[in-house]
Amino acid sequence: MTLDFNKLSWKLLSSGDSSLIYKAIHNGHIFIKKQYRKQIINNSSRIKEDMFITEIQCLQLLKNYKYFPLLLDYDKKDLIIYMTYSGKIIHKFNKPKNYISQCDEIIKIIKQNKICYRDMKQHNITILNGRIYLIDFGMCFIDKNMHLCDIDKLYETIENAQY
Ligand SMILES: Nc1ncnc2c1ncn2[C@@H]1O[C@H](COP(=O)(O)OP(=O)(O)OP(=O)(O)O)[C@@H](O)[C@H]1O
Ligand SMILES: [Mg+2]
Repeated sequence: MTLDFNKLSWKLLSSGDSSLIYKAIHNGHIFIKKQYRKQIINNSSRIKEDMFITEIQCLQLLKNYKYFPLLLDYDKKDLIIYMTYSGKIIHKFNKPKNYISQCDEIIKIIKQNKICYRDMKQHNITILNGRIYLIDFGMCFIDKNMHLCDIDKLYETIENAQY
C-alpha cells in the first residue's frame, strides 16, 4: 500500500521567500513537504513553477546518491514536493570530521550530472547521522551555463558556517 502524504500531520518547519517547508513523522520515518509559493519571485523573471520543475528534475537525477533528499512524490497542481528528511542545518559544532571527503564526492556527483548549482549557503546544507546533504535545487540549471555554478563553494560554506 502506498503512503497517502495528504493524510499525514504536517508541522511547519520553515517559511522562506519561495516555499513553505513542513515536516511529518509516520511509522518512525520523517518526511518533508516543500510547497512552492505561486507568485513571481522578486527581481527575477523565473517563476515558482520553473523552480518546482527544476527541483524535481534534479532530485530525479540524484536519486541514486546518498547525499541528497530522496524524491518520494510530487503534486504538479499545488507545486508540492514530498521528500525524505535530511537532518538539521550544518553549523560549526555538528560538521563531520570527514567533511572534506564528503564535499569532494558531492561536488563530483553534481558536476557529473551537469547540474549547475547556484544557491550555495549554509541553510542549503544539512547533516544527518554524520552525513552531509545538499538540498534546495530550485535555482539550478541543468546541462547549461556551468560557469555560473557555485558548487565549488561547498567547502568554504561549511568551513565558515556559524552556529
Ligand atoms: N529534505 C529536508 N530535510 C530537512 N530539512 C529540510 C529539507 N528541505 C528543506 N529543509 C529545511 O527547510 C529550509 C528551507 O528549505 P529550502 O531551502 O529547500 O527552501 P527555500 O524556499 O528555497 O528556502 P530559502 O529561500 O530560505 O533558501 C532549509 O534551510 C532546511 O532547514
Ligand atoms: Mg534554501
